[in-house]
Amino acid sequence: MQSRHIHTELPGPKARALLERDRSVSSPSYPRDYPFVMAKGRGVEVWDVDGNRFLDFAAGIAVCSTGHSHPRVVQAIKDAADDFLHISSDYWHERMTRLGEKINALDPMREPVQILLCQSGTESVEGALKLARYVTGRPRFIGFLGGFHGRSMGSLAFTASKYTQQAGFFPTMPGVTHVPYPNVYRPLFAGADQGKAILDYIENVLFTSNVPASEVAAIMVEPIQGEGGYLVPPDGFLQGLRDLCDRHGILLIFDEVQSGIGRTGKMFGSQHWGVSPDIMTLAKGLGSGLPIGLVVARKKHMEKWKRGAHGNTYGGNPLCCAAALATLDLVESEYAANAAAVGGYFIERLRELQKRFDCIGDVRGKGLMIGAELITDRTSRAPAPALCQRVLTRAFHNGLILLSCGVSTLRFIPPLLVSRENVDEAMGLLEISVKEAMVEN
Ligand SMILES: Cc1ncc(COP(=O)(O)O)c(C=O)c1O
Repeated sequence: MQSRHIHTELPGPKARALLERDRSVSSPSYPRDYPFVMAKGRGVEVWDVDGNRFLDFAAGIAVCSTGHSHPRVVQAIKDAADDFLHISSDYWHERMTRLGEKINALDPMREPVQILLCQSGTESVEGALKLARYVTGRPRFIGFLGGFHGRSMGSLAFTASKYTQQAGFFPTMPGVTHVPYPNVYRPLFAGADQGKAILDYIENVLFTSNVPASEVAAIMVEPIQGEGGYLVPPDGFLQGLRDLCDRHGILLIFDEVQSGIGRTGKMFGSQHWGVSPDIMTLAKGLGSGLPIGLVVARKKHMEKWKRGAHGNTYGGNPLCCAAALATLDLVESEYAANAAAVGGYFIERLRELQKRFDCIGDVRGKGLMIGAELITDRTSRAPAPALCQRVLTRAFHNGLILLSCGVSTLRFIPPLLVSRENVDEAMGLLEISVKEAMVEN
């Protein structure tokens, strides 16, 4: 036991009792890596039911952007709850309209936008796909290998980060063709510019041999690929996609469900490259933990939707809108900048660790969307998934909550208010965990 904050064996007695009760009543499909049973959270710290304290560098899968139970977010939710809990998107209320105005003020597309509210990432993706088909009248789409966009039948047709997400569910939505996402650490194509190679492949191979460009409604891409391994695309790639789409009348959808809301040090990940999409999907960090998703689209596109073309019961829930408004204020005024500054420091610390541990092949990311890819050795660069799983488990036992992504990449996505001191503590716990995981081999 390395952390002075861990007082019991893990899982502790209360956690074990709950795991036992849960086993018979919960779906076994949840991809759970280790037995953390949460009791309470504040900021970057979380406590389990046995009173052990952990540093949370997973933030509920990049959701708790403002930290656990930020007082301003909690107060905003309480105020909204005092007014009313629900009315549905068949009616109007002030917080819902204010959220649309706020998104416009953030100017994600450098022209007026409209929003459609929903509850999750996958639903925002479904909305984006439906809008693209509706507006263009075209049936096909292009997605990326390694992409993750959700698990409902439309978004799942794009999701391609692990085959287990697909296995057993075919046929999903037809008409989606996948192309590789640029991977600078593991280049698939000859030549230095992987982004340019993929753009050439779409234009000169795919469009000439198999997929008529005139039938493609949209290309959907994560500005930084998340579940697929935290891949940062080379400069010029997103602009190249923008140009390609414009040449062929194709809409460009940026799925910013994970990379949006300050996570990368800017409000939207794509702003690192100054490229605007036609449609953007948001969820996760937007509600600081309350379930909210958004389809954001250029007004000239979304205003084409006729009455009844798309909608839902819970979209625009007042508690979720209140949480999102408070979150956006905090991220805009403070936390995006903190993510950029502390994220830069964090990457430096990880690169120092990489110099001392050959099993860390690559450290990459922007802001607080950071991945460290584990490998067996630097010559083959073979992925090391078993080592990655052992590091996650050891980190948990040492008091650090982490997740993985890709085949063997550790991902670091703490709340955006994380401090350098938190990062120093996490780095200490991580180093111990990597050492222990290597010895266990
Ligand atoms: C980029 C991206 N899009 C969509 C989703 C799906 O979001 P949800 O799990 O809220 O449906 C995720 C979830 O990880 C994601 O990372």
